Amino acid sequence: MTGIKPTGEPHLGNLVGAIRPALTLTEKYDSVYFIADYHALTSVRDPQELRQYTRSVAATWLAAGLDPKRTTFYVQSDVPEIFELNWVLSCLTAKGLMNRAHAYKAARDKNVEADEDPDAGVNMGLYNYPILMAVDILIMESDVVPVGRDQVQHVEYAADIAGSFNHVYGKGYTFKVPEALIPPEGSGQTLPGLDGRKMSKSYDNTIPLFLPEKKLLKLVKRIPTDSTPVEEPKNPDTSAPFQILEQFASAEHADVVADTRKRLQEGGMGWGELKNVLFEVLNTELAPLRERYDALMEPGSELDTVLAEGAQKARDRASRVLTQVREAIGLTGVAR
Ligand code: TRP
Repeated sequence: MTGIKPTGEPHLGNLVGAIRPALTLTEKYDSVYFIADYHALTSVRDPQELRQYTRSVAATWLAAGLDPKRTTFYVQSDVPEIFELNWVLSCLTAKGLMNRAHAYKAARDKNVEADEDPDAGVNMGLYNYPILMAVDILIMESDVVPVGRDQVQHVEYAADIAGSFNHVYGKGYTFKVPEALIPPEGSGQTLPGLDGRKMSKSYDNTIPLFLPEKKLLKLVKRIPTDSTPVEEPKNPDTSAPFQILEQFASAEHADVVADTRKRLQEGGMGWGELKNVLFEVLNTELAPLRERYDALMEPGSELDTVLAEGAQKARDRASRVLTQVREAIGLTGVAR
């Protein structure tokens, strides 16, 4: 199970670093993926933007090949059971645990450094964020949660919170204790962005996935390179355009990647030519996804049905758990 926060337009880095690895996992696991719109609400303030990002992230995952028959796929706010469990687990979570959460601590440290009130700009959604995430995980009875390193503490918190509940109410209901599944060190799942730093919406250096061809070409031309002349040998492994090419290209372009590597090392291939190769590969592989994405983004498209069915599946699952929780804690049950 994993959640995707709808806080920006999906980009190449998301596809390579998150979407593709998550799709691979669906072959091995009973999988649950959802759009975490409640979590986005801690920072997104524009209703139109929240709607747009939610739809666009959902359409991207489907266009990239997620099979909603095989994966439970839904929007978090379509499952009100999540909200009910959120209160219950809040009552079992120590405030001190939230005080130590990385995201909240980082916000505080920044304020202190700027000589502001430590809690300036911190809303309760940000503060309680780890509890809601624990609910997401526990209500689906998840075993493993594939996340980036920055989210590992949150999964540990979910395990802690499950432990607190099980300790008090374990006779009535026991939550499964989840584990994080982190990408192995050096698995190279980050792409360089338009300024050479890691591609990330927080650096504003991304290549969005579904650009029209002309715009895509323009961005590819902006990827930084050094001033090595055309005829000189070049190191592919320190070249941003080559790294993107190598990590993005699927098996169908393996020969193009190998050939490009060789030509760079031998000398005689310039950065301009490399960028043309990169553009061709990106454009060829992204074109069918773009077409599917555009169709799904149309109002009233198949996306609405997929998400409605996903919500139903998720609610069935969540309410089974919630019924047992309500009974275990004494909200319902015999002799009330
Ligand atoms: N916090 C995650 C992120 O920022 C998103 C998320 C919300 C999530 N709920 C989750 C991830 C549950 C895994 C499981 O990326």
